[in-house]
Amino acid sequence: MEQLLIRGQNRLSGNIDINGAKNAALAVLPAVLCAGEACIIDNLPAIDDIHCYIDVLTRLGCRAELVDTHALRVDPTGVGYTVADFDSAKKIRASYYVLGAMLGKFGKAAVALPGGCNFGSRPIDFHIKGFEALGAKVVIEHGIVYCQADELVGAPIYLDFASVGATINILLAAINARGQTVIENAAKEPHVVDVANFLNFIGADIRGAGTNVIRINGLDNGKIKMRGGEYTIIPDMIEAGTFMIAAAITGGDVCVKNIIPKHMHSVSAKLREMNCVVEEDEDSIRVRASELLSPVNVETQVYPGFPTDLQPQACALLSTVQGQSIVRETVFESRFQYVSELERMGARITVSGRQAVVLGVDNLTGADVSATDLRAGMSLITAGLAATGETRLSNINYVDRGYEDIAGRLNSLGADIERISVL
Ligand code: UD1
Repeated sequence: MEQLLIRGQNRLSGNIDINGAKNAALAVLPAVLCAGEACIIDNLPAIDDIHCYIDVLTRLGCRAELVDTHALRVDPTGVGYTVADFDSAKKIRASYYVLGAMLGKFGKAAVALPGGCNFGSRPIDFHIKGFEALGAKVVIEHGIVYCQADELVGAPIYLDFASVGATINILLAAINARGQTVIENAAKEPHVVDVANFLNFIGADIRGAGTNVIRINGLDNGKIKMRGGEYTIIPDMIEAGTFMIAAAITGGDVCVKNIIPKHMHSVSAKLREMNCVVEEDEDSIRVRASELLSPVNVETQVYPGFPTDLQPQACALLSTVQGQSIVRETVFESRFQYVSELERMGARITVSGRQAVVLGVDNLTGADVSATDLRAGMSLITAGLAATGETRLSNINYVDRGYEDIAGRLNSLGADIERISVL
């Protein structure tokens, strides 16, 4: 078993290049199933979730080969209908995108119910309602979701919540339907736009991605063939935000490069409200922490609101800021499991339902802590960067799912993190 040993209180400074977006890549890879020819996907992050997804695609019949660490050639032309109930599909939540892609392409699909990070119940009822609206029959048997349609027909679909996963899954199926589908209350996250751009690039007709109404003119159940091509994934706004918060908690001065600054506005705004100096350039943001940070209230929201995937890291930061901050989680019903681990490091946080009241302490203190999910793990690393003494983080497999060489990259900015083997 491996752990991260973090020796805290080192100020971060310097430049860091941000990798491709995990959540965009996890949608674009299954979208390749819709292509009529091979595709090269560039700027893939080298993380466990992506390696797992490559295994899913291979087992479905794709020929996949890494061109280099961050580029993959995928040829989906050998894919046929397969029940995706193998381990890699069960491990990774985004394997549910295989449902939309296969349903659109073959009129049927079967995938094991999704795994992934556990922070509250994560139903897929909106995905299913969307497929049914397009004319599919959906049943769940023995942990596998089966979808089948003689013909997919475009339809108006209203989402009760602007779900990222449901919006993308419906897009993947609806691009092949007969006629127009209109998704109302669609998710506007940058990775929704990225997958729509990729699908348009290979021949789909999707308009309005990035707004809350998306129109899809279907390709009539495979009558119009899609192409292949080379596509580059957008930068990861969550990784960028993580480094921005790490700069702030260490009193540092860090420039996150190769990003789309507009994606970061909610994070930049909060850091400025806390007294950080945040300077935006064309494709980078520099964060300089002031001596005295101010407490702030944070409410997670769908894009362009403050991302739920940065809430745990923000909470770690606010634990070190004198005064009272309130953090409200509105996207997931229970995303404060990491708080008890932060408390082991001396944080003073009271959680009630979807709200956490954070009272800043003078110093966090290093402790043995354990990740309960990906961003929870990152919250504890963030806290460890500021804490006195040593923090040992276990269950780092969660962190490896979503961050490429996080120790090495934080160390390049001045952190002191070691990956150690323990019995
Ligand atoms: C995606 C991201 C995740 C991020 C989240 C919100 C991926 C692989 N994961 O997750 O990192 O935290 O967006 O930005 O891209 N819901 C339902 N029924 C459904 C679908 C969702 O009730 O059918 C609820 C969820 O329980 C949750 C909310 O809607 O409370 C938002 O979920 P959603 O946007 O779908 O998140 P994911 O796609 O699972």
